[in-house]
Amino acid sequence: MESLTAISKEIEKCTLCDLCLKRNKTVPGEGNESTGIVIIGEAPGKNEDLQGKPFIGMSGRFLSKSLESIGVDRSAVFITNAVKCRPPNNRKPTNEEIATCRPYLVRQLSVIQPKLILALGTSAASSLGIKFKHLSEIKSRFIDITLGNRQFTCLVTFHPSFPMRFPSARKSFLADLSMAFNSYKNLPT
Ligand code: URA
Repeated sequence: MESLTAISKEIEKCTLCDLCLKRNKTVPGEGNESTGIVIIGEAPGKNEDLQGKPFIGMSGRFLSKSLESIGVDRSAVFITNAVKCRPPNNRKPTNEEIATCRPYLVRQLSVIQPKLILALGTSAASSLGIKFKHLSEIKSRFIDITLGNRQFTCLVTFHPSFPMRFPSARKSFLADLSMAFNSYKNLPT
């Protein structure tokens, strides 16, 4: 079986789309490789691009604090993004960029084999092949998906930048995080 390190090395050299032209560093993901939960965000921002680590800017701090508030240290999980290079000016990644980067994500998930994938926001949900028009159709539900030849369960919630900006969404975000972390151990492998 391939290793996450080998996948990260391949991502570092990736030139499959134009995001490679302006990136400083790729952001393959980091964390506990034996975790039962993988968290997927959208794409690196400015800080992540400079340091090569996911979720270390403002929304990252918000995510870490939210996890802490439900008793979870982020080092216990593996955190990655739908797209591994920063889109210029922090624009949303295009569907094409998400599709181009998807095989890396699928390979990472095949190595880790998490019991649950926690998808943060619409780009993360799209990268998992979930079809929807609006996030509300898929949020806060366990959804079974097939990636490669394996079945995964995922839960979709807001991207942390949304509850960070809109405090009224925080309760619902925390409820989703709690649901994910309280239930994943009971999910079938
Ligand atoms: N937003 C994301 O979706 N991912 C990051 O790594 C940082 C900000």
